[in-house]
Amino acid sequence: MEKKKFIEPKSHIILALDTENEEKAFWVMDQCYDLIDCIKLNYPLVLKTGLGIIGKLKDKYKLPIFCDFKVADVPVTNNRIIKIVANAGGDAIMVHGIVGPDGLEEAMKAADNKISIVVQTEFTHPGGLVFTQGIADSLVELALRAGCQAVQTPGNRPERIKKVKSIVGDKCKIVCCGVGAQGGSYKTVLESGGDFPIIGRAIYQSSNPREYIVNLLNNL
Ligand code: XMP
Repeated sequence: MEKKKFIEPKSHIILALDTENEEKAFWVMDQCYDLIDCIKLNYPLVLKTGLGIIGKLKDKYKLPIFCDFKVADVPVTNNRIIKIVANAGGDAIMVHGIVGPDGLEEAMKAADNKISIVVQTEFTHPGGLVFTQGIADSLVELALRAGCQAVQTPGNRPERIKKVKSIVGDKCKIVCCGVGAQGGSYKTVLESGGDFPIIGRAIYQSSNPREYIVNLLNNL
């Protein structure tokens, strides 16, 4: 069976839709749905609105939905979460690399080519340097061995993106949180070998989200 493909790149932008409520989420999306490649959802909005938001967003905007649920439990539990999210219409889900080789292999089996597995490696915040940076390259290797579709690498650390790109080559995609509000640059992420800059607050807290994205695209 052919492996499920990750997101098709056009603008390369994954929008972290971490708005305070559903109404604001749809307001932002109405302005920029045609300029982004994927919507990333995280716990705060989903816990507030329910999992049904996945289907509502997909029906209206026809974009892939990436659930950044940071799955990090034993395989039996991880696998249930992955299946629930796939059945709700999720196209990708974030799983922590620290679940280890068997955890990632089982996650890929649970995904059953219906949902992509993105492996969390190194956190973007300063604390990410304390523990996660030191093991990140090993987690990237684990992700490759398990055949996962993508790895998460800090978009605010271009030297780390270049290093991870030198490990993965074309074998998996690199998604990069930390762009905009956390200091990373859309252009630099792409120039460093990242495939998908992830941008949240810089877009949804902007008074004109569409204009913000158009400016990024025009300054490539
Ligand atoms: P902002 O507003 O900072 O949103 O553009 C970023 C989004 O990405 C999540 N985030 C991370 N996810 N590893 C991850 O897997 C990270 O190091 C990381 N840093 C931020 C954040 O929760 C938000 O949804």
